[in-house]
Amino acid sequence: MSKNVVIIGTQWGDEGKGKVVDLITDKVSSVVRFQGGHNAGHTLVIDGKKTVLHLIPSGILRDNVECLIGHGVVLSMSALIKELGELDTAGVDAVSRLKISPGCPLIMPYHVALDNAREAKRGKSAIGTTGNGIGPAYEDKVARRGLRVGDLLDLESFAEKLVEVMEYHNFALSNYYGAEALDYDTVLAEALEQAKTVIPMITDVTEKIHQHIANNENILFEGAQGALLDIDQGTYPFVTSSNTTSGGAVTGSGVGVTDIDYVVGIVKAYTTRVGGGPFPTELVYDVETDKGDSIGKVLGTIGREFGATTGRQRRCGWLDMVTLNRSFNLNAVTGICLTKLDVLDTLDTIKICTAYELNGKQITTPPYDAQGYADAEPVYIEMPGWQTSTIGTDSFDSLPQQAQDYIHKIEELSNLPVDILSTGPDRDETLILKHPFDE
Ligand code: GDP
Ligand code: IMO
Ligand code: MG
Repeated sequence: MSKNVVIIGTQWGDEGKGKVVDLITDKVSSVVRFQGGHNAGHTLVIDGKKTVLHLIPSGILRDNVECLIGHGVVLSMSALIKELGELDTAGVDAVSRLKISPGCPLIMPYHVALDNAREAKRGKSAIGTTGNGIGPAYEDKVARRGLRVGDLLDLESFAEKLVEVMEYHNFALSNYYGAEALDYDTVLAEALEQAKTVIPMITDVTEKIHQHIANNENILFEGAQGALLDIDQGTYPFVTSSNTTSGGAVTGSGVGVTDIDYVVGIVKAYTTRVGGGPFPTELVYDVETDKGDSIGKVLGTIGREFGATTGRQRRCGWLDMVTLNRSFNLNAVTGICLTKLDVLDTLDTIKICTAYELNGKQITTPPYDAQGYADAEPVYIEMPGWQTSTIGTDSFDSLPQQAQDYIHKIEELSNLPVDILSTGPDRDETLILKHPFDE
């Protein structure tokens, strides 16, 4: 029997999704991105060689895997062309295996300008977006005024629609934000040039997926960001503008709810967040001044927690079961993939947050809004560390007892199995206890 498996991040992104997608695509015919855009940064390390993907699905380094970009993804043609160029330089022929849905909203230069103008206006309360125009592009989609990849198939009408949409956004840019308006001719000329690369890849991705299902082929759906950045369920307004939860795989690709057989929830063995917003278990440390929490420093340094897209320092903290348990339910997670366990190798004590204290009460479900999170005080249990290297462990039994106990504790607190364990960035540094595509 074939299977459809969804991989999603259960925290605030950067859990190691790219690595795991690449690893388990040994058993699939296609990988589908279904939401987000080039705000994602998915790192793959194969035999020490690092590749960072933003928009192109993380199956691209496996020769026979078809890579599909579903209509839920917002597509920047310039980002796509840049990434294709990088892959080409590395000797990877992506063009022949990449298919793009005509339904993808296009991210245009004015979206980037709006994203940056809004962030600047927000000042201290900025969201800390990637500045890639993601939010404004999704807004245009929902407002039913956006240009889509399919519009490139009729360039005359594309040029006409662009007049209207640019008039609208230029008005806001210059009159409301005091920013510079964009020049129509320049934007059009650039888009027409870029369209030459994109047009040959336009395919009815939904139909492709249905055919793969009819042919009994395995499909992997690759999530971007993490559940706590979900537009509806995340720490609003410090979120991204798409549904990052597993339901997004359905709406953003064109399969039905019951087509999904298995959801892998990727969990980093601690927590990170990049950008603004609440983070109850944060251990504040600032790399520039080298001031702050010493464990925050260890996690960030050993874990190399710098953004794969923006290079920003990622904030680090302890594992948080309050948000995780919500996340497991939101995504209907079947099994956990625990990553970066090795980053905890040197610690003598490890904490897990099991509840929040809010307004004098202990709660085990997350607060409703960002302010609630900001006011929540984490309640921890403590576990002894193992202080031995776990890098590249090849069997569960050979892990130090304390590491096994940490993993079992996560299983106990979540009532879910840890099916995959990652103890290093390389594809090989992974222990698959149960392969999601196996019966
Ligand atoms: P993604 O956005 O979820 O794909 O994750 P990122 O690629 O942005 O960030 C994860 C980072 O951790 C990357 O630099 C990976 O190479 C690295 N990584 C992934 N798994 C492991 C692991 O088990 N141990 C260590 N030390 N690094 C890992
Ligand atoms: P991957 O797929 C971590 C964060 C940004 C910001 C917020 C909104 O690599 O896990 P946006 O540009 O999307 O409007 O920014 O979301 N963010 C991510 N954080 N990993 C990501 O992707 C992210 N994509 C967006 O930092 O806080
Ligand atoms: Mg990332």
